Amino acid sequence: MQNAQAQQENELPRITYVDFRGGAQTVEVPVGYSVMEGAIRNNIPGIVAECGGACACATCHVYVDEKWLDRMEPMGDVEGAMLEFAPQVTPASRLSCQIRVTESLDGLVVQTPENQG
Ligand code: FES
Repeated sequence: MQNAQAQQENELPRITYVDFRGGAQTVEVPVGYSVMEGAIRNNIPGIVAECGGACACATCHVYVDEKWLDRMEPMGDVEGAMLEFAPQVTPASRLSCQIRVTESLDGLVVQTPENQG
């Protein structure tokens, strides 16, 4: 029982990254990391993150799966302004460096665009 509990406490949120061709990779990302950092640390293609997460490049653009859109924290003003520089923005667009991973985002699915900037 104790082992099962410890194992449960050690489980990390799982984030699925889907590329523009439909290929999916699911990885564990620690709480407090950004969705961008989860991609970079796991060599997920399709996220460039030129500015390293400073919300200054828009090359970490992702599309949040529609099932998750209403569970996201609202977009900040700076993110909204920077997102205007990303190509092919849709209502599902977010900058992945601004999405902070929480336990409630376990199972999140994001799609990477064909091109970043
Ligand atoms: S990494 Fe540059 S805006 Fe997200």
